[in-house]
Amino acid sequence: MIHLHNVSKFYPPDQTALKGVDLKVAEGDFLFIAGASGAGKSTLLKLLFGAQRCTGGEVLVGGRNMASIGRDGIASLRREIGVVFQDYKLLPRRTVLDNVGYGLEVLGVGIKERRRLALLLLHAMGLEDRADAYPVTLSGGEQQRVAIARALIRKPRLILADEPTGNLDHEMSRRVFDLLLEANASGVTVVVATHNLGMIEELNKRSIVLDRGKIIGDFSQAHSFRGPQ
Ligand SMILES: Nc1ncnc2c1ncn2[C@@H]1O[C@H](COP(=O)(O)OP(=O)(O)O)[C@@H](O)[C@H]1O
Ligand SMILES: [Mg+2]
Repeated sequence: MIHLHNVSKFYPPDQTALKGVDLKVAEGDFLFIAGASGAGKSTLLKLLFGAQRCTGGEVLVGGRNMASIGRDGIASLRREIGVVFQDYKLLPRRTVLDNVGYGLEVLGVGIKERRRLALLLLHAMGLEDRADAYPVTLSGGEQQRVAIARALIRKPRLILADEPTGNLDHEMSRRVFDLLLEANASGVTVVVATHNLGMIEELNKRSIVLDRGKIIGDFSQAHSFRGPQ
């Protein structure tokens, strides 16, 4: 699903965000990207979504080479990807319910079905009573959950999430991760950047650790995450 070969990313004038990154993620995998602030986690996700291009090496996503992919290729790739990025980009003039259903509108799903599916997800996120509210009236954590519901509703092949639980307490984080695990159990590939080490250990999934742009660890399960005690 994802294949990175010797990938580097340089931001002018002098920031090297990634260097020599090799990574394979098979279809259906669940992967955590861990690492301190500034390690390159968001940059890595942006390369996978085509929001940034790598400076060196090769990035393949769903069989597409991100260096040579055109506008149409990016558009079709993005239809297969659900993203939860740090700036939630909710539509300010639409209700919570319509924000969640929006991804399906683009695919031509009718309003009744959109609303039915959106309500199911809002319920799972504990937000059903905010369905008619506008994003500006929600707390940061609530907006984050709306963004997650919006990403999940289209049943994408790949979910990319950047600190999806950054504003959430443990219980709500666990709910978000349960939804991501559920999506993964149904075959969706999930890649999550987080510095929530507790959650990485709790979920016991594969995790890579970035440090100043390099992968310094790749653990098949979080049990080995902290190394020998
Ligand atoms: N658009 C940008 N322009 C210049 N430097 C950037 C840009 N985005 C990120 N960086 C730098 O690249 C490095 C990695 O950033 P980032 O990928 O956001 O890391 P993380 O998500 O792990 O905090 C940091 O040093 C950051 O300052
Ligand atoms: Mg980041």
